[in-house]
Order: sequence, then structure tokens, then C-alpha cells
Amino acid sequence: MQAFTDAILNALAAESGLDADAFKLERARDPKLGDFAVPCFPLAKALKQAPPAIAADLAAKLPARLEGITVEAAGPYLNFRIDRTALASTVIGAILDQGQDFGKSDEGHGRTIVIDLSSPNIAKPMSVGHLRSTVIGAAIQRLHDHLGYTTVGINHIGDWGSQFGKLVAAMNRWGDTVELENDPIQALLALYVRFHEEVENDPSLAEEGKEAFRELESGVDGDVRATWRKLTELSLAEFDKTYKRLGVTFDEVRGEAFYEDHLDATIERIVASGVTETSDDALVVSLTEFNENLPPCILRKSDGTTLYATRDLAALFQRWEEFSFTRCLYVVGSDQRLHFRQLKNVLKRLEVDWEPRVEHIDFGLMRLPEGKLSSRQGRVVFLEDLLDEAVEKARGIIAEKNPDLADAEDVAQAVGIGAVVFHDLKRERIKDVLFEWEDVLSFEGETGPYVQYTHARLASIEARAASQGLGSEDPDLTKLDDAGDLLLLLGRFPAVVRSAARNAEPSEITRYVLELARETNSWYANHRVLGDDPVLSRSRLALVCGAKIVIANSLRLLGIGAPEEM
Ligand code: ARG
Repeated sequence: MQAFTDAILNALAAESGLDADAFKLERARDPKLGDFAVPCFPLAKALKQAPPAIAADLAAKLPARLEGITVEAAGPYLNFRIDRTALASTVIGAILDQGQDFGKSDEGHGRTIVIDLSSPNIAKPMSVGHLRSTVIGAAIQRLHDHLGYTTVGINHIGDWGSQFGKLVAAMNRWGDTVELENDPIQALLALYVRFHEEVENDPSLAEEGKEAFRELESGVDGDVRATWRKLTELSLAEFDKTYKRLGVTFDEVRGEAFYEDHLDATIERIVASGVTETSDDALVVSLTEFNENLPPCILRKSDGTTLYATRDLAALFQRWEEFSFTRCLYVVGSDQRLHFRQLKNVLKRLEVDWEPRVEHIDFGLMRLPEGKLSSRQGRVVFLEDLLDEAVEKARGIIAEKNPDLADAEDVAQAVGIGAVVFHDLKRERIKDVLFEWEDVLSFEGETGPYVQYTHARLASIEARAASQGLGSEDPDLTKLDDAGDLLLLLGRFPAVVRSAARNAEPSEITRYVLELARETNSWYANHRVLGDDPVLSRSRLALVCGAKIVIANSLRLLGIGAPEEM
């Protein structure tokens, strides 16, 4: 497809004597008029002519420079239409030739993207917010991988802070009253709750908590640290279960504690640059020059301990040193907007020139319908339960629709988990997500199962063709001249991948693949693929294979399985 758009832009540049980027190539508003349009208003000044005259003039001269593309003037617009046979052979040729690699490029060659994602807090259940961060962040990473970037996915585990002092104190007092091995997160949560209940009437407990955190921060490798380490290990093992089900891995799992040895140097560096001051005995960087209401960034509290922001600043400097990133993306909920604004403004005060490379990739809340999840009474909603329930429901649907399915259990996993992931990525990330089972798991409408089902349908056509000894080789692509919309859509895939990566917006892929599934189904409803004419059958089969590959590629980038049968 880019071959065509490049050809158009080059021809326009050569004919007009202007730079290719003087032209804005858009999708034609009315598909009847063409596939692409170029408005001539912006050229009037440079070419010293009225836009309609420019359009008419170029429309007359361009055909000599364009092959397989027709051009027409319509008022101040130039409309371009790609010859359907040329379109079919370029698009289908590229897809069948490149398969899984279709849409790959080397735009990212030699560039590193750091992605901070998932980042749950130990001793607590992973929340739906962390699920969103995991799913969105992993998709952003895969998109960049596809474009040849070096990507580094970092799970910035919340394993440091005063709450861990409290937890250690609670463990010391009542640790032997809870079952840590069986359900560690639940047990730790219970300890934490008990601490807060009992501390009301027992101030010594508060003191023990503070003392434990002080000891932790002091670096002493004693009992406190041993207990903290155990908490971390138990929690990470629990988190791994969820990551496994989602098929997500990390390049680095670095908790906040990883930056322990960098904290002093970070604070010294900021102090040395002269932007700190003392406020209520705390060491802070004032940010009022950016906005008078912006609270200062606190680096060290009056009791000498560090904060979430201190550790994030240390991590930023460390990441810059290690990776010299082109972008450093923080996939974190929009409730932390203030935090990231503060971090970036501290960088600005330090006059760090890579500050614009640091981006908060924020997202909205996921709201779960109350009482509809089968979580045990009195428990917070555990993600594992949510995923279990999705798979359970998928199992039920599959048993009903296709009771003889061979790999029913694998398919139920792919459909159940895939449905939750797809739903999460369906709208612009900044929008809140309302979780309703009907919207998640339906086989019709804008759902993961709908797209997977479309893919499986194409796979079954392929299988039927194969059983008749028919393949997609030697197609006559002139026979696809009535599949223009579908071909254009398939050809757009590489551009959609580039745009989704640039905007760190996986929903661009979700929207795209929904449109592709719809377009494929409507084409299929009107065309018989395997008929009496073998050449026509092979040609249509080539289109079916192409659509199947692009749907599977889209799903893979989103982190969703594409079963051959369901
Ligand atoms: N652990 C934090 C939380 O659950 C998220 C950390 C996000 N990453 C970061 N570098 N601050 O709220």
C-alpha cells in the first residue's frame, strides 16, 4: 500500500516542483470518488493559483507519471483510485509472502523504548488497574517489537515503602496465626488489616512498624530484611500465575528496592544542581514555577526516609544511563497524573534535555459490576477469579456451540482470556472500561470472540479447500476486482501498526481488526469461495488466506490467541 501512496506523493512532487511533504494524502471521504484524496488549498500560495485550477492542472498531467492509479479532479480536490488488479496483487502478494512478518519494518532500528508496565504492589492482590497496565503495556511493547525497536519491558514492583515496615511488624506479632504458603496474598492482606485495627489501641505497634521500615531503609541485612524478602518472593510467585495466563513476560523485574543503591546519589545530584529547599524539615523541589497549585516533589521526609517519587527519579536516571532510550513510557492509571507531572517537572528544573522522552501513558479505570463476580464472600475481587470465570463461561459457550471440538480446553482458555484482554483494549485507553460479561464474551458485536470466530471460519474454508486439493497458488487476481474495500483495509495494516505504536494506543489495532472482521464477513456473505471455477476459487482463497493472516497478526499483537477451530 505504501508503494502506492509513495508513488502518488512522488508524482505530485515531481510535477509541481514542491516537496512531497507539502501534500496531505488522506483517505477519500466518499469511497465512490476514489481511495485517496489530496486537498489543494494548502498549495495555492506556493503555486500562485486557485485550488480548483491546481487540481485540474495536476489531474491532466499526473497520469503520465502514474501506473495502476487513476486520478481525477473534483473541485479543489484530487482523487486517486488504485486499479483493483494492481491493488490485489500488491496487497495479497505482500501478505502471502510475509505472513507473520507482514507489517514489520525497521523504523525502530537502533532505537530503544523502555516500557514501565504492570507494577503491582507486593503483599496485595494485583488489581484490575494492574491488569490494564499489563495488557496495555505488553501490547505497546509488541507493537514496537514489530517495528524493529529494541524494547525493554520493566515490571516496577511496589516492594518498598512504610507499609512494608508495618507488615513486618504484623508478621513478627501474628505471623504464625496465618497460613502463608497456601494463599499468601490473602494471608498478608489479613495481617495488614489486623495491623490497622489493633494499632488504634496500641501505639507501640505503630512504633514497631516505623522502626522496621527504618531498619529496612538502613540496608542492614537482618531479620527485618529476611521477612521482607520472603513477602516479596511469595507475592511474585502469585503474580507469575496471572502473567502466565496472560502470556506476558518481562525483560526486567525490578522492584522499587532495586534502586536502593541509587537513592543517595540521586538526591545528591538534585541537591547539587541547586533546585532543592527544605520545607517542614523535608527535602523538596518546588514546582510552583510551572503552576502555582502544583505541590512540591518531596525527595526525603523529615524522618529521613525516601518516597515513591524519590525511587522513581532514581529509576529514571538509572534507565537513562543504561538504555539511552528514545522513549520511556509509563503505563500507569490516570489517577497518577500528578505524580508523573511532578517527575517531569523535576527533570525540567534540572534542565535535563531528554525530559520530553519521558511519557505518562495513562489509562482510565476498569469498573467491575458489583456482586456479579463469583468471588468468595468478603474477599476483594481477585484477578485470578475474574480470569477463571471468563474461561468457565467460554467453556460453557463452546460446549453448547461445538460439543465435539477437539482441543476444547485450550480453546476455552484462549477465548476466555482473550475476551477479557480484547475488552480491555477495545476503546481508547484513557476511557473507563465498564465490565459487563455480555459485552466481553458475546460471539457477536465488538468482542474478542467475534474476531476469533471470524478467524476460525476462514481457517475452516482453508481446511475445506485443502481437503479438495485446492491451494491459493497461481491465483488470477483480476478476479478480485470486486473486493476493493477488503483489499484496501488489508493494505492499511502496516500503517495502523505504525500509528498505534506512535500513539501508544493498542485500541487502534482493536478497532482495525473489528472493521476487518466485519468487512471480511460481509464479503464472504456475498461471495462463494469454493465453487466450480478452479481459478476463481484459488483467487478467492488467496484473499481468504490474506484476511486470516492479518486477523491473526492483529490478535497476536494484542496478546490474544487465534484458534484454528472453535
Ligand atoms: N506500584 C504502583 C501502584 O500500584 C505503580 C508503579 C508504576 N510505575 C512507576 N514507575 N511509578 O500504584
